[in-house]
Amino acid sequence: MSAVIIDGFEIARQVREDVAKKTAELKAKGITPCLAVVLVGEDPASVSYVTGKEKALLEVGMSDRSIRLNEKTTEKELLDVIHTLNTDTSVHGILVQLPLPKHIDEAKVLLAIKPEKDVDGFHPISVGNMLIGRKSFLPCTPHGVLVLLKTMGIQTSGAHAVVVGRSNIVGKPVAVLLARKECNATVTICHTGTKDLPSMTKQADILIAAAGKPGTITADMVKEGAVVIDVGVNRIPDSSKKSGFRLVGDVDFDAVKEKASFITPVPRGVGPMTIAMLMQNTLEAAECSL
Ligand code: GUN
Repeated sequence: MSAVIIDGFEIARQVREDVAKKTAELKAKGITPCLAVVLVGEDPASVSYVTGKEKALLEVGMSDRSIRLNEKTTEKELLDVIHTLNTDTSVHGILVQLPLPKHIDEAKVLLAIKPEKDVDGFHPISVGNMLIGRKSFLPCTPHGVLVLLKTMGIQTSGAHAVVVGRSNIVGKPVAVLLARKECNATVTICHTGTKDLPSMTKQADILIAAAGKPGTITADMVKEGAVVIDVGVNRIPDSSKKSGFRLVGDVDFDAVKEKASFITPVPRGVGPMTIAMLMQNTLEAAECSL
């Protein structure tokens, strides 16, 4: 039996519609939610993500403070930009697109963002609050994964969730969120040090692929009836496309969909949810300024 394809594009549209409605209400009270999106350099994937975020902001009626900085921007210059945004009361959220150029210390930059404006949920205070179950901005991609599972009526309580990947942006936070009481899953984190990856992934009721490598999950690694969430976004050369590339996930979609009960496609799976959750966090940040 073929899996149900989770339509992340449509679910994200519904989230954005709700955010747009609440944004209009906030604007009627005199507050226009504003997100500052900071991009250093011109990495093509980052430019594409940032453009998508800026487009979504305008669509939901928020204002966008777009800041593009040269690849050669120093750490001090970037920190100065962040300090200015921290003190600007018309800016509710600050997002610094990652990765940053090598000469800039990412940890220092994330630490400089005022936690009240940390709509990415990457500040150590946000991460700590998430870990201990206190209210905080949740990182957008992991939060988006949870919303997909919930919207599709997929039970997480008691399920064995196996996360492949331990990045700070996806792997670690999604594992923490799934293990929190609200989700109540039993969680295993796999990574490049895992000895026998297939033996782990085959145990998954819910398999989260966040390795950032095409072909990481093949059909023989998936249990019959598992829920498969593909967080990978990989560009592979494709001369038949105008852009010269196409996007693929970490999962061998065509084969795995014949075994899974639910599966997310790439594109139009998890990706659109990241942006939708960012809009929701920006709205919340603005509401807190009331
Ligand atoms: N790079 C890849 N994903 C993200 C994200 O969710 N936020 C930021 N700031 N950078 C990213």
